[in-house]
Amino acid sequence: MQSNLVLHVLYISTASPFLSVPALDDLIAKSRVRNAALDVTGLLLHRDGSYVQALEGAPNSVNDLLASIQADPRHREMREIVRYENDVRDFPQWYMGCEQMQDRREGRLDLDGQRLPKSSAATR
Ligand SMILES: Cc1cc2nc3c(=O)[nH]c(=O)nc-3n(C[C@H](O)[C@H](O)[C@H](O)COP(=O)(O)O)c2cc1C
Repeated sequence: MQSNLVLHVLYISTASPFLSVPALDDLIAKSRVRNAALDVTGLLLHRDGSYVQALEGAPNSVNDLLASIQADPRHREMREIVRYENDVRDFPQWYMGCEQMQDRREGRLDLDGQRLPKSSAATR
């Protein structure tokens, strides 16, 4: 049904400038309010000045929001990686989940759930 159509967009971008934790918290708090009003869900991942954001919702809402985000001077080099439509949300509970990605190589878990010593961490 047309009214259930969900547009999914995933993009990457580069922070400019690098946002402080309070500035990022403020951005996320405001995003949650607007995304809730638009019924747009998704998540924002960031690490070392790079963002990955997934947005999903009614096509008009997602496209309008993306236009605002694209014009935001707090990041640049925005590049869409994925865009498709279906009728299912991947993040139905999250108006904007946010996570700082960590370096998983340090003390990564081996298959038995034991912590590997740093020296044996893979280099990939
Ligand atoms: C990486 C990044 C992600 C953003 N994600 C959202 C978002 O999901 N929702 C939102 O309302 N604003 C988001 N913003 C903020 C918007 O770009 C914009 O400042 C805000 O929507 C206000 O838009 P307006 O100035 O057109 O009113 C994001 C900004 C950046 C830099």
